[in-house]
Amino acid sequence: MVIFALESSCDETAVAVVRDGCEVLSSELFSQADMHALYGGVVPEIASRNHVSAIGKLCDLALSKAGIKKTDIDAVAVTYAPGLIGALLVGVNYAKGLALALDVPLIPVHHIKGHIAANYIAFPELTPPFLCLVVSGGNSLIADVKGYTDIDIIGRSRDDAAGECFDKAARILGLGYPGGPALDKLAQGGDDSLFDLPCPVIENAPYDMSFSGLKTAFVNIVHNKEQKGESLDTASLAASFTRTVSDILVPRVIAAALKLGHDKISVAGGVAANSRIRSDFIKAARANNLSIFIPPPGLCGDNAAMIGSQAYYEFKAGNTADMNLDAKASMDLSSLCGEQI
Ligand code: KG4
Repeated sequence: MVIFALESSCDETAVAVVRDGCEVLSSELFSQADMHALYGGVVPEIASRNHVSAIGKLCDLALSKAGIKKTDIDAVAVTYAPGLIGALLVGVNYAKGLALALDVPLIPVHHIKGHIAANYIAFPELTPPFLCLVVSGGNSLIADVKGYTDIDIIGRSRDDAAGECFDKAARILGLGYPGGPALDKLAQGGDDSLFDLPCPVIENAPYDMSFSGLKTAFVNIVHNKEQKGESLDTASLAASFTRTVSDILVPRVIAAALKLGHDKISVAGGVAANSRIRSDFIKAARANNLSIFIPPPGLCGDNAAMIGSQAYYEFKAGNTADMNLDAKASMDLSSLCGEQI
């Protein structure tokens, strides 16, 4: 089954052609990061306008790179939630028009389910059940992947997402937007034990997380040094910060996997590209006899191939939509489980 997939939930316009959930025939991406860097973060209105101007050309490119004709498309898939509403609407309306014109099914895909599905592309041997940590710019959650479309959220951030925290920390150090990759690089030359940063535990919610205190502590250290006119070892601060994020994430995922009896864990989303977090997860998984799956960095961030992959399983579960499909800025993943969209 050949699925033509679109993703436009934030500042990346992405289009892919995916066969049978795991074979990527093409995957094209237009990143607007440079356009938002000037403002230090994503400006929703600018994102929407750029999706409009990029999406048509990107679709043509994805089709030609896949070496297929429009008539070879069996279904059209699109991210419809969650994300920036104006940005989502561009993809949803384009997908609706395309599905109508080609007279093929329209498959709505939840963005987080897409991040989890990036694993099926990278590791075709991976099948549910498994436990998946999704850490991106907008979400940090631990998902019990019981089936391809049957997913329970067992832990989540009570405040900021891990990626948001990386971006804020990088911004305060003047590293630009998006800051995660730059902070990752800077941390590699630092001493991760130099700064003691908060690693909070949430009472009666062992798998929930919190990043806002860490973000504030980071900002306070930088401002304090600036006010005193003292020099700051930014590499060590970045390394200590990354170690703390890892200390928040890794033990929770391992404990949840052992408690729920999973023998496979995976990590997905943009922050899964972080070199320290990847290596800490690999070490912890080995120490606990768990199999670990982390997609290559190119599949961790937003892309449309992951949407095309998840769409295949949604279609098999009967989850298609009609022309009334609407974009939704927020939608809890758990509320979808087992329900017809
Ligand atoms: O998954 P993604 O592309 O978009 C969302 O769905 O939100 O994630 C983007 C986030 C940004 O916050 C970015 O700074 C972060 O992922 N990120 C990283 C790294 N690469 C991207 N964070 C830490 N280390 C990285 N190497």
